[in-house]
Amino acid sequence: MTAQAQEPAGADPARPIETPEALAARYRDGRPGVAYIKPRVLFLKTEALHEAPVPLTIHLPPSGIGSISLLEAACLTALVRIVRPRRIFEFGTFLGYSTSLFLANSDPGCDVASVDLGDIASDLAEAAGYSDAELRSDDRKNDDHLRLTQSRLGPLYLRDLAEADRRRLTLLHQDSRTLDTAALGLEGAVDFVFVDGGHDFGTIASDTVRARRMLGGSGVIAWHDFNSGIHGEVTRYMAGEADRDIILSVPGTLLAVSLTGAAREAFLAAAAAPG
Ligand SMILES: C[S@@+](CC[C@H](N)C(=O)[O-])C[C@H]1O[C@@H](n2cnc3c(N)ncnc32)[C@H](O)[C@@H]1O
Repeated sequence: MTAQAQEPAGADPARPIETPEALAARYRDGRPGVAYIKPRVLFLKTEALHEAPVPLTIHLPPSGIGSISLLEAACLTALVRIVRPRRIFEFGTFLGYSTSLFLANSDPGCDVASVDLGDIASDLAEAAGYSDAELRSDDRKNDDHLRLTQSRLGPLYLRDLAEADRRRLTLLHQDSRTLDTAALGLEGAVDFVFVDGGHDFGTIASDTVRARRMLGGSGVIAWHDFNSGIHGEVTRYMAGEADRDIILSVPGTLLAVSLTGAAREAFLAAAAAPG
């Protein structure tokens, strides 16, 4: 069997890539597909770029469904510490948990913008009655529940922000599918996008198109709910992305990550010996 015919490194989540060097080699191999990496690949890169140990500032996770996990928070923070974005854009503010993570763990000059639907509670009254079993088995009901919850509770994890953090935060209230990235001055102005809004195929595709416009050819897109047992359309959408490019994922998380342009080169160079 030739080397090219073998499965690329990291294709099996049970055998993830373990080092920055092996990850750089995976990109040199170039074949598209999902490349699973251990979290330590991100942590090694973070350590290589920062002299002092890097803190992780985070609230305790909400007890209800809908926000990221602690391991996901650690991986996202490592990515932010590696890429050092000037501006982060998030689809899906929800209660502001991941938004507050981005504010607390990015550089003081980094702007953070996040979009969610805002006050739509009256449209979704029915979603208040869904059972836990329904929420864990029906992706549409789950999404309606999340939309209703954000509408009722608002971004409560952003209530006690320091003034300096409040100044670098923009909260947008609209359907992300109508977001005019040019009018908002976001095209080519964002380095890091977190796609965690509506989980239906059409919304993910629309959010991703806008994410790419915002990156303008260089940066990071992280999607949430890849391989989720509930939001199967995210996984189906990501299969198309992984047909065209290398998509990173960390086993034990629902994160999928794409790196492009100069940001990809800088990310790969961190802590990887030339091969
Ligand atoms: C999974 S939650 C986001 C969780 C958040 N990123 C966190 O980790 O704390 C998804 C959010 O996307 C919002 N959403 C769903 N469809 C949307 C749309 N079309 N436009 C904007 N926001 C949307 C929902 O209202 C919900 O608050």
